[in-house]
Amino acid sequence: MDKPKVVLGVSGGIAAYKACELLRRLTESGHDVRVVPTASALHFVGAATWSALSGHPVSTEVWDDVHEVPHVRIGQHADLVVVAPATADLLAKAAHGLADDLLTNTLLTARCPVVFAPAMHTEMWEHPATQENVATLRRRGAVVVEPAVGRLTGVDTGKGRLPDPAEIFEICRRVLARGVREPDLTGRHVVVSAGGTREPLDPVRFLGNRSSGKQGYALARTAAARGARVTLVAANAALPDPAGVDVVPVGTAVQLREAVLKAAADADAVVMAAAVADFRPANYATGKIKKKDGQDPDPVVLLRNPDILAEISAERARPGQVVVGFAAETDDVLANGRAKLRRKGCDLLVVNEVGERKTFGSEENEAVVLGADGSETPVPYGPKEALAEIVWDLVTRRLE
Ligand code: CTP
Repeated sequence: MDKPKVVLGVSGGIAAYKACELLRRLTESGHDVRVVPTASALHFVGAATWSALSGHPVSTEVWDDVHEVPHVRIGQHADLVVVAPATADLLAKAAHGLADDLLTNTLLTARCPVVFAPAMHTEMWEHPATQENVATLRRRGAVVVEPAVGRLTGVDTGKGRLPDPAEIFEICRRVLARGVREPDLTGRHVVVSAGGTREPLDPVRFLGNRSSGKQGYALARTAAARGARVTLVAANAALPDPAGVDVVPVGTAVQLREAVLKAAADADAVVMAAAVADFRPANYATGKIKKKDGQDPDPVVLLRNPDILAEISAERARPGQVVVGFAAETDDVLANGRAKLRRKGCDLLVVNEVGERKTFGSEENEAVVLGADGSETPVPYGPKEALAEIVWDLVTRRLE
């Protein structure tokens, strides 16, 4: 089979050097990558680097190899165009259909999915001109990844950083897999909770669970690749921030509730993939609990934690908001799942069987998605991102 053809557009920002890693990830995972830098990108990383890493000639202008009509062919033959970094200038040109170099010509001739990963100073990103250009590109079906927050060029810190190249690669992989289907969550805000809460006993000990956060992160990554604005409320997950996702770190169930309710206020969908502790210790010892010679330990008294899923299901922050829960069961999986769906009042419940080696921490999952409308969608054993795609398919159907 032919390798998928990817055009990597690079525009002139300091983050251009990070595109080398994205290029490596794409080529090493079996993609045929043609790099199309702008003239200003070559001030940051030279043509020799792009050419050596991609194995293809590199030009910025439409005047090289004119007999091959590159300004039309490169775009026409692409399965995916990704521009990383995309500067404010490049976004403006793309939004207005300008075509004064090879990359902008390629963007006009491409009929495949297009991903922009912007990187610039916060002021430039927030400027209404840039925001309107981004909105235009999204409306036309492009995926524009929200920049990350962090250190920018020089001493500045703020929104505008290029997300981790490994995470831009994850977006590219998912967009390529979807093919020419439109990013159907564009314009939607979705909230995903992930990980497992930790309920502290003292400054060094807690009651916790085995959730790795992988399923919730897969849901967040997939939603971002489908164009959504994503808030990921992450409880103790040691995983990299997905590109384009606003990550809110939390520790306990009470903190998770607060963060989820805040983000849910304007959300179209809320997916509760986090493993929330049902109980927390009634007493928190401000100093480390010491063992006392010859004495049994004090019993741990527990209090009920709020049921966040039941609460957001009962009091929807906006009409038509879709609420999804997860149920981890060890016995009578389907019967327990059906009862839980009714008890929690959510629209969809993803039921999976867990055990010592099943689901927790693994890359795969097997589940049945139960709908409040009586529907049952079996999800065969497979990667967590495949389950994530099915969950978003079911959510978008309900949002329509
Ligand atoms: N959940 C929640 N708040 C809690 C406990 C759970 O929002 N305090 C959510 C989880 O995020 C998940 C769903 O509820 O989406 C199911 O959680 P689970 O622990 O499996 O169900 P429980 O209601 O705790 O039922 P049981 O312990 O009886 O199995």
